[in-house]
Amino acid sequence: MSNAGNTVSAKDRVLIFDTTLRDGEQCPGATMTFEEKLEVADMLDMMGVDIIEAGFPIASDGDFEAVSAIAGRIKRATVAGLARAISADIARAGEAVRHAARPRIHTFVSTSPIHLQHQMRKSEEEVLEIITRTVTQARNLVEDVEWSGMDATRTPIDYLCRAVETAIKAGATTINLPDTVGYATPDEYRAMFKAVRERVPNADRAIFSAHCHNDLGLAVANSLAAIEGGARQVECTINGIGERAGNAALEEIVMALRVRGDVMPYDTGIDATYLMRASKAVSSACSFPVQYNKAIVGRNAFAHESGIHQDGMLKHQQTYEIMTPASVGVTKTSLVMGKHSGRAAFRSKLTEMGYTLGDNQLEDAFTRFKALADRKKHVYDEDIEALVDENLATAHD
Ligand code: KIV
Ligand code: ZN
Repeated sequence: MSNAGNTVSAKDRVLIFDTTLRDGEQCPGATMTFEEKLEVADMLDMMGVDIIEAGFPIASDGDFEAVSAIAGRIKRATVAGLARAISADIARAGEAVRHAARPRIHTFVSTSPIHLQHQMRKSEEEVLEIITRTVTQARNLVEDVEWSGMDATRTPIDYLCRAVETAIKAGATTINLPDTVGYATPDEYRAMFKAVRERVPNADRAIFSAHCHNDLGLAVANSLAAIEGGARQVECTINGIGERAGNAALEEIVMALRVRGDVMPYDTGIDATYLMRASKAVSSACSFPVQYNKAIVGRNAFAHESGIHQDGMLKHQQTYEIMTPASVGVTKTSLVMGKHSGRAAFRSKLTEMGYTLGDNQLEDAFTRFKALADRKKHVYDEDIEALVDENLATAHD
């Protein structure tokens, strides 16, 4: 476990709200079984996630059962259930999280003109009334209520401030301002949080939260910008799974704050050595492959093939790595043998495999290796073994 919470830290604490089981599971093809959801929830709790959004209880009986079961078994993290701004949704979410040690209802309503006009067909005043009614209902069920203004980043700031003020007055303890369609830039998103927190008179009664989608590949950058703007909760998913292009990736936010604590002095309670295990668990539960070059948990995140990089890595690990593989639960750096590898890496590989070759033998084996690497996409240890054995056999003839 991370030591956050046990030691005095000069850094501000940022809460990690994981929505792998709700927004993540909502994307096409990512459905998980009941048992898989429990396994993922246990893993999230173990790694130090502060809030687990376990599902959307009104969506189906299966979702309700999963949220209830997770609420009943998780002892450390807060367990949240999602609800639209509809009385029946809120009642169902309240019922599902009832047995949690720390229950939360997360209710949301759209605030942007495009959503109000075309999706909800409601006026701004009507939506403010809905916010008061639904947040009050949720607060009568649980102490911990999160309110989200859906499509906040396309909402005029004056109206967004009125909506936030209304939600806090009705008892919301967390205010989430989502970039629902992944439209914001980091500067805009940072400024939005700053403006809302400055302008809403009762803003200091709530924790502000960021929730970013990755349609322009900016979800993590926007989440970090929101923290700079005053957000102290970030909503994210393992491997960045989620609607359309996905949500902000938990592992990337956590490691960006860890590695660049010099310029972003914020702590999370996450034990990063669980990141790789969590990535594999989620990928296998929802049958979503992790892209090879995915930051932090991709198969190539700690692999080096180019000769120059391999040479540097053999001399000093920090020449081409900004964090250790062990810090995110990866066993070791891999120097992948391929056509870009140089002599130094080839020699080191042979030593690791138990071979000691003289200079001429090494040169000969290296030439054969380069020729093979030009023909083959992947050169495995067995290929090198065969090549060296052949090389040694010809030397004895
Ligand atoms: O993207 C979004 O706006 C959401 C809300 C339900 C918070 O997922
Ligand atoms: Zn979302």
